[in-house]
Amino acid sequence: MIDEALLQSVAAAEGPLSPEQCAEKARLVAASVDSAALDRAGVGDAMLLWRNESSEAWLNTWREPRDTGYHDHDGSCVGVHVLEGVASNEPLVIGGPRRISTYGAGESFSFPGSGIHRMDHEPGAVTIHVYSPPLRVIGHYDLVDGALQRRAFSPDEPTGPSGALNDAFSERAS
Ligand SMILES: [Fe+2]
Repeated sequence: MIDEALLQSVAAAEGPLSPEQCAEKARLVAASVDSAALDRAGVGDAMLLWRNESSEAWLNTWREPRDTGYHDHDGSCVGVHVLEGVASNEPLVIGGPRRISTYGAGESFSFPGSGIHRMDHEPGAVTIHVYSPPLRVIGHYDLVDGALQRRAFSPDEPTGPSGALNDAFSERAS
């Protein structure tokens, strides 16, 4: 399904990558993925493509809607490439309108390691995510009794929607 030799050559790097370099690696990996061979059963899957000292990469298949909630990468930047379907990216904006950017098949974007964002994946989306340096922690944000709190997740542990924070933004927008 994936050309292992190409994967190894794309993964090879020394030191941390820029957000743009992460997006470029995600694009290069996408060129070697035979998406017709992907498993279409189940709710979706996350496959670790590589994890080395410089970066790590995941191939994600989303069979159901997936909202990550607002989160940070504890300093790791990310480059995302959409192979199939639709995914959107939203930085956490305070005191202004929401900034949701939507990406379709063949499009990519990057996000800085200092940022807080949320991603929404429509059912059927197939995405590649490259993080650098490799993920240590995902910091997930939500409101608890009206106060913003951060909860640390393992990089292998999926996060869910920021329910109360999302509601607060929706009320502000209406
Ligand atoms: Fe993220």
